[in-house]
Amino acid sequence: MIEATPLADQPFGVEVTGIDFSRNVSDEDIRTVIRLFYENAIMIIRDQELDLDRYERLVGQFGQLHHHLIDHLRLKDNPAVLNLSNIFQNGKPIGGYQGASFWHTDVAYEDPGNSATIVHGREWPEGGCPTYFCDTRAAYDALPDGMRKRIDSLTVLHHYGNRDDLNEDSTTSAEKLQGHQKDQIQNVFHPLVKVHPFTGRKALYGVAGSSFGIVGMPDDEAIGLLDELKIHALQPQFVASFDCRPNDLGAWDTYSTLHKATTLKPAVGTHDRRLVWRISVKGYPPLMADEAVHASV
Ligand SMILES: [Fe+2]
Repeated sequence: MIEATPLADQPFGVEVTGIDFSRNVSDEDIRTVIRLFYENAIMIIRDQELDLDRYERLVGQFGQLHHHLIDHLRLKDNPAVLNLSNIFQNGKPIGGYQGASFWHTDVAYEDPGNSATIVHGREWPEGGCPTYFCDTRAAYDALPDGMRKRIDSLTVLHHYGNRDDLNEDSTTSAEKLQGHQKDQIQNVFHPLVKVHPFTGRKALYGVAGSSFGIVGMPDDEAIGLLDELKIHALQPQFVASFDCRPNDLGAWDTYSTLHKATTLKPAVGTHDRRLVWRISVKGYPPLMADEAVHASV
């Protein structure tokens, strides 16, 4: 039986047990898991022995598989999958290495952005490698009335990068792009406050990372407001973490959270290697499209 337990010692998030995605799972069980995911914004399901194809099919239940802009990191036979790793071969990391160690929202530099990201743990370093998440729904709810009214209808300009660190060789900037990838970058616009299509909850969207301005507002005032909201959201009472160990499935709802990775040194042996498969999706779960009743995305 599917059971949900709050993540221990964390202000939000859920661990789901009683399901085995290495076997065929009923549509109703998939809906149950996805509803728990949307309610809780981050989710971990441990002990899921999945090969690449099974993992990819499972993630396809959460939305449409997204092929990442950074095409040189895609796996050849499974192009929706990126490795996240500190393993180096021939002097180069085998996947995304340090490009996510700042607070951000996945692919908010596209329209639409990602709706969810689901990772599968493969190798895990001694000492751990947590990913941190900020509950931007709770952060929104905790704002004073006046601030909520001020920001509810604002539109934010996004493009690729980290507005706090534009030095592409830095460890806290966004993953460095190649020339043809830079050519695809455009400005896109998203609401500052997103209404979740399934839960109807409002959340601060993308107030860190790829947000660079607010429509109709002078730049210094816009950055000041985005920074104020980011600092508010990143208070400890809104921040949780989990660690993806081998065969763990970890998922985050990108409409309801900000997140950042832990920076690791390049692995020198088997004891300190990290490898995680990552797929992000856009849009709605195919089994639940008719439940997306709240407009705004
Ligand atoms: Fe990310």
